Amino acid sequence: VNGRTPLIAGNWKMNLDHLQSIAFVQKLAWTLKDARHDTGDVEVAVFPPFTDLRSVQTLVNSDDLPIAFGGQDLSEHDSGAYTGEISGAFLKALDARYVIIGHSERRQYHGETDEQIAAKLTAAHRHGLVPIVCVGETAEDLETHGPSAVPVAQLRIALGGASKGQEVVVAYEPVWAIGSGQAATSEQAQQVAAALRAVVAEVLGDEAAAATRILYGGSVKASNIAGFMREADVDGALVGGASLLLDEFSSIVRFRQ
Ligand code: G3P
Repeated sequence: VNGRTPLIAGNWKMNLDHLQSIAFVQKLAWTLKDARHDTGDVEVAVFPPFTDLRSVQTLVNSDDLPIAFGGQDLSEHDSGAYTGEISGAFLKALDARYVIIGHSERRQYHGETDEQIAAKLTAAHRHGLVPIVCVGETAEDLETHGPSAVPVAQLRIALGGASKGQEVVVAYEPVWAIGSGQAATSEQAQQVAAALRAVVAEVLGDEAAAATRILYGGSVKASNIAGFMREADVDGALVGGASLLLDEFSSIVRFRQ
């Protein structure tokens, strides 16, 4: 009982077009509204591709669905000659609540640096979005530096861009666990989550650290979510592959049952 509302977030990555996204969100809402499956105080969020956001917004707003949504990335700039980029203002105008920042796939395939991620965090706060900052070590990092060193260093730089008093969510995603079917153990997740909470305390203060939700991501599924959620410093999950499977994702959301 720490006062933090668990967050189960589905990162769709580059999957589901706008028609498929409407069908998925509709069905997800039915399962969430089903009175037989009381999910309690769990917050559910989805992260569709940019081209789906308008459709998801329309559906969520018109039916008042209990589903939050956000972008998978944003530009550190507000507007201008940045071909292909999406600004925080655009996301905010579509009622996005969250934005994922620094996902390992952005770091790996688009060369995003910790400094850029800090700038994106500032941009998210500038537009009233809650950033979900992703950090995590590769298998090689784990071998060389142990479990917490790399994620801790990444978070320290990223949080340099945070505005005091504004909400941040941290996602610990070990790169070796993403899409591999080989999740971290709940003990491993707890160990790193505790180290990351200490970084939040160091940079943003104890009060912020106590309020900040730290998610685990990397091969989360219905069969392992409960173990992660029992850990003191794990406040939810960032789910990839399993967030595209309706039954699986609904079961993850109902981790208490
Ligand atoms: O952002 C979530 C993600 O990287 C984890 O992916 O497929 O291992 O759940 P997955």
